[in-house]
Amino acid sequence: MTWLITGGAGYIGAHVTRAMTEAGERVVVLDDMSSGRANRLPDQVPVVTGSVLDRVELDRVLRGNGVTGVVHLAARKQVEESVQQPFRYYRENLLGLQTLLEAAVDAGVDRFLFSSSAAVYGLPDVELVSETTPCVPMNPYGETKLAGEWLVRSVGRAHRMATASLRYFNVAGATAPELADTGVSNLVPMVFQRIAAGLPPVIFGDDYPTPDGTCVRDYVHVADVASAHLAAARHLVEAGPGTELTANVGRGEGVSVREMVTLIGEVTGLTEPAPVVEPRRAGDPARVVGSAELITKELGWTAHYGLRDMISSAWEGWRSRSRALPA
Ligand SMILES: NC(=O)c1ccc[n+]([C@@H]2O[C@H](COP(=O)([O-])OP(=O)(O)OC[C@H]3O[C@@H](n4cnc5c(N)ncnc54)[C@H](O)[C@@H]3O)[C@@H](O)[C@H]2O)c1
Repeated sequence: MTWLITGGAGYIGAHVTRAMTEAGERVVVLDDMSSGRANRLPDQVPVVTGSVLDRVELDRVLRGNGVTGVVHLAARKQVEESVQQPFRYYRENLLGLQTLLEAAVDAGVDRFLFSSSAAVYGLPDVELVSETTPCVPMNPYGETKLAGEWLVRSVGRAHRMATASLRYFNVAGATAPELADTGVSNLVPMVFQRIAAGLPPVIFGDDYPTPDGTCVRDYVHVADVASAHLAAARHLVEAGPGTELTANVGRGEGVSVREMVTLIGEVTGLTEPAPVVEPRRAGDPARVVGSAELITKELGWTAHYGLRDMISSAWEGWRSRSRALPA
């Protein structure tokens, strides 16, 4: 079968594309290149520049390549931006998904894998977030992901399509420097940006009800996220129509912001200046750590990489991109 990977030129999408290609799957990538780069992809992968909002282009790509399965990663993902621009997020993430699903159903696609996010949980008041933890997203980004899951599931039921939604926690690391995340909205690249400029890393709030007072998160290596996609794609093929899966992709290990900043200093060798603490940011939950029990049970997936791998590989990518940084 042939898989269409939307957003395949993005940070996670490029890792998923490589993992699926290396495992022998036939793939075609559709990406509007708004934040993606075609040079992240192996030469043999066909890449179409276009949007999931473009129905004509979707029909052409799906039918022209005999696509029978879709891995949908294309989306806008900045929480703050989603608060400022809800129309844009609902259009790109939800209308984009609907347009893609309509085209997929018409083209006879019967496997669909959707990129969801831990953002669907909002401010969970539990030690370990499981898939049965209530979903109360707190921003338009998380809303589009939760509504997206509903739409995917409903369409799967109505049109005999096997579906899965993967809720990733905090994704970090890279399998090659050129595949690294180029955004600076997540903690690891945010700290890199500061220390590389000789500035102290910033910790937002140290008065949370956590062991060291800073927020606790669950980090997962992008290579592990990619292997979860491969496992889920194969599960959809084997289990067939009627299958629906919604699963966390995390490691179940809580790491505080202060612990992460300390580890980044150790791995990069840039321990000075010491971090500074600023007031809490609005809407940051104290602790979001995901249980991976379900995905392990359903797909036999577990994470293989640890924090040091995530930081060192991300740092290599950061340094290779930025000539101004110390060697
Ligand atoms: N990075 C994380 O920590 C994280 C966590 C949870 C969920 N996610 C989800 O994973 C997916 C991939 O995220 P990423 O971190 O790789 O981001 P990214 O911005 O690197 O990748 C998104 C890709 O989608 C493309 N794209 C955006 N809008 C498009 C459109 N309308 N049509 C076609 N292509 C479009 C972009 O050009 C880019 O290549 C997103 O759905 C995101 O919401 C990411």
